[in-house]
Amino acid sequence: MNIDAIKTAYRRYARIYDVVFGPIFHPGRKAIIEVLDCRPGDNILEVGVGTGLSLPLYPDDVKVTGIDISAEMLTKAHQRVELEELTHVEAVLEMDAEKMQFGDNSFDKVVAMYVVSVVPDPVQLVKEMSRVCKPDGEIFIANHFRSSNPLLKSAESLLSPLSKLAGFRPDFDLEDFLQRTRLEVIEMRSVNLFGYWKVLRCRNAG
Ligand SMILES: C[S@@+](CC[C@H](N)C(=O)[O-])C[C@H]1O[C@@H](n2cnc3c(N)ncnc32)[C@H](O)[C@@H]1O
Repeated sequence: MNIDAIKTAYRRYARIYDVVFGPIFHPGRKAIIEVLDCRPGDNILEVGVGTGLSLPLYPDDVKVTGIDISAEMLTKAHQRVELEELTHVEAVLEMDAEKMQFGDNSFDKVVAMYVVSVVPDPVQLVKEMSRVCKPDGEIFIANHFRSSNPLLKSAESLLSPLSKLAGFRPDFDLEDFLQRTRLEVIEMRSVNLFGYWKVLRCRNAG
């Protein structure tokens, strides 16, 4: 995966994204907002916000900033913010989540929904999420991780060469991800179809 391949994939997806990936991923989006346990005034960053499907799910009394690398996905997010008058959305910005322009310790909570297996370097992404998150803040991740079922695992490995075209890695391994990022998981939930995706709530270890 590289930035150009990602931009190309999501340029193609932007028009159909909400229809194809809206409903199937929605239980996970709702679950992560529940796990966020938002407090009034919370300053929240969502990386890889895409078309902004999650934005209406946040309560009105928090401040949300969304970033994404795909201009086409963000156009849809801007339209949603305007049409639905989402006043809790502070900004929706084009920015690489692996090289963010925010200062250290800027946000109370940092969220990545279906993004960690998309970016070129998931370890660098988590490093950046951790840097911009306050030391006592939390990091939230929703993603599909490689199945432990041998049949599904083989199917995921077979699909792996199509990662660039698909715009995500189908064989992304949870244990390896946690080991390499040193994320400290406080809570884990299975979500979406057959519980095939996970929501992780993590302490910002810095
Ligand atoms: C599978 S979509 C998820 C979109 C949204 N979070 C959702 O719940 O539907 C992955 C998103 O991550 C974005 N993305 C990939 N790499 C990125 C990066 N390095 N920085 C910011 N966004 C990135 C893509 O452009 C795409 O919009």
